[in-house]
Amino acid sequence: MTDSDVAAEQPPVPNNSSRSVTLEGRDLLLVNRGGELFLYENNCPHANETLDPMGGSLSDASGDLIRCQRHGAEFLARTGECVAGPCLGEHLTAVAFTAVGTAIYLD
Ligand code: FES
Repeated sequence: MTDSDVAAEQPPVPNNSSRSVTLEGRDLLLVNRGGELFLYENNCPHANETLDPMGGSLSDASGDLIRCQRHGAEFLARTGECVAGPCLGEHLTAVAFTAVGTAIYLD
């Protein structure tokens, strides 16, 4: 474990919601779907921009979908696949990580 890992401590992301985080200088999106965590690059494949320019959670009420705030692309929370919108069939880039309590460590 290095000093930079200390920055990995994160407040918990509520169930069926998401939040942008910065880890090791990378803009990422941490997603909690039904208690299961997923981590993606915070970069929409449609326009190569962040998904959340307005901030806040991108998850729908079920937690199954993440919706880009720019043009409405919808992604499966579990896989990052775009299932509706202008980048249909493309994917968010998954980031490998290990969660220990409330800490997120990039693998
Ligand atoms: S930038 Fe995400 S839908 Fe256009």
